[in-house]
Amino acid sequence: MTQERPLLNRRLAEFGTTIFAEMSALAVRTGSINLGQGFPDSDGPEAIREAAVRAVRAGHGNQYPPGPGVPELRTAITEHQRRRYGLEYDPDAEVLVTTGATEAIAASLLALLEPGDEVIALEPYYDSYAACIAMAGGTRVPVTLRPHDGAYRLDLDELRAAVTPRTRLILLNTPHNPTGTVLTRDELSAIAELACERDLLVITDEVYEHLVFEGEHIPLASFPGMRGRTVTISSAGKTFSVTGWKIGWITASPELVAAVRSAKQFLTYVSGGPFQYAVAEALRLPDSYFDELRADLRAKRDLLSTGLAEAGFDVYKPAGTYFVTTDIRPLGSGDGFAFCRALPERCGVVAIPNAVFYDHREQGAHFVRFAFCKRTDVLADAVTRLKSLQAS
Ligand SMILES: Cc1ncc(COP(=O)(O)O)c(C=O)c1O
Repeated sequence: MTQERPLLNRRLAEFGTTIFAEMSALAVRTGSINLGQGFPDSDGPEAIREAAVRAVRAGHGNQYPPGPGVPELRTAITEHQRRRYGLEYDPDAEVLVTTGATEAIAASLLALLEPGDEVIALEPYYDSYAACIAMAGGTRVPVTLRPHDGAYRLDLDELRAAVTPRTRLILLNTPHNPTGTVLTRDELSAIAELACERDLLVITDEVYEHLVFEGEHIPLASFPGMRGRTVTISSAGKTFSVTGWKIGWITASPELVAAVRSAKQFLTYVSGGPFQYAVAEALRLPDSYFDELRADLRAKRDLLSTGLAEAGFDVYKPAGTYFVTTDIRPLGSGDGFAFCRALPERCGVVAIPNAVFYDHREQGAHFVRFAFCKRTDVLADAVTRLKSLQAS
């Protein structure tokens, strides 16, 4: 290269190789148990995997499927929203199938932001939010969730104070990764009132909607005044343990769906055809499937949370998601990066430093996240290993 100019676009320059890649490589190199990245170590229901195989064999979706998604899936998504939440959507105009929630987030931000628009997001946040806001030329305005009485909570006054005349939208996430916070009805109601009062759009990432152990998941779109200003995002990855399929979706007003589709059109155009047919079947699984998923993950949450507490961590037991955040200071460390980089050598477990989810890195410096979407024997082994820390 002869040019002086940096190769990487300046908007992306601060988002280099992620800690997830570094930690996954470390897990492989040291033969550690990887509780870093949030992917299940067993695949989703066999019937659903068979449905994908059947779709491929029958020639359903092997060629470009329709841009908004196959009608079978769009209809199944609207049935799901009606059955679970009493929300009515038109499958032809108010649903868009995306390549995972990740594309839904990117396409929504690219479609709805002009350069300079401010986006309020709950910090710590899922790492793609900051990068996608930057790619869209927006300015992120973090509102920090802070630990209080063993759980992370949102300060509504701080949220209100963060709104300026340049605020275009709030990017919400409930149940929340990485803290496990599930926003309450009162909190959601206050957010809805604020959005209406200040005429804001809201993108709400609800990919963990079925992983709630305490409280309930209430879609923001169900609050008065929100139906027309909310882009609701979900995906099949977490709910059906198929994170590699990358089938996500949005539900929103026809105007919002059309806007987001304009961005999706030039990102991926369409999303994995045969998997869409399988996810349509998955969304129609009986309630017992969703109940069992939740019960299984609740037991795993309890196993890992108790084990981490016995190993000396301060534990923030999550109300939802499949992540648990811990404070490592009782173990004599205040630096999550150094702690996580040393953990595989010290005891053969991989975790993620929460600081990567913060703009205000100092706020997350001493917190570390573990995923519990793993087999029970793997979690039990991880706990045994983590308990050896105090002796080391
Ligand atoms: C909050 C949040 N949103 C979105 C995603 C990505 O979902 P998908 O795999 O469907 O793209 C994740 C995955 O970890 C997540 O934690």
